[in-house]
Amino acid sequence: MITKIMQNAINEQINAELWSAYLYLSMSMDAESKAFKGLANWFFVQWLEEQDHARILQNYMNACGAKVILHPIDKVENEWDNPLDMFKETLRHEKEVTEMINELVRLAINAGDFATLSRLQWFVDEQIEEEENARDLVDDYSRAGKDFGTLIELDSRLAKREYAKAAPLK
Ligand code: FEO
Repeated sequence: MITKIMQNAINEQINAELWSAYLYLSMSMDAESKAFKGLANWFFVQWLEEQDHARILQNYMNACGAKVILHPIDKVENEWDNPLDMFKETLRHEKEVTEMINELVRLAINAGDFATLSRLQWFVDEQIEEEENARDLVDDYSRAGKDFGTLIELDSRLAKREYAKAAPLK
């Protein structure tokens, strides 16, 4: 059984993951409206992955006999000036998520909650990848600048991203 404090913290994290999903869906829709098809696809996949993150935590709570409490999802922005701004915001947001995961880990360590610690390890590893992906794309779009050919190439690359269900859900 996990403590009430840990249950509340995981419920907050589920809300944060669903907010992340909503943010990336909004980016996808903005990209779609501007005919950046690849960019729209990349963020659509990100939207699906964030829902997986929430689902993993929901499954963990259910397995522990703890009730998932869903909170309202806060408003998200719906307009970005360009793809670079989207990825800069993605990187900034993912760094915040990493800090939230680290805080959960600290809580689990202090409570001697080894089961939660074990579940959180996947998220610790995932955040390394989340930040790396966003950082790489910030670099790519920064280098591309306003070069139309490079921007088209980048968009084609993003169009190839495919959704794969997160390992803990397989
Ligand atoms: Fe759920 Fe993008 O971290």
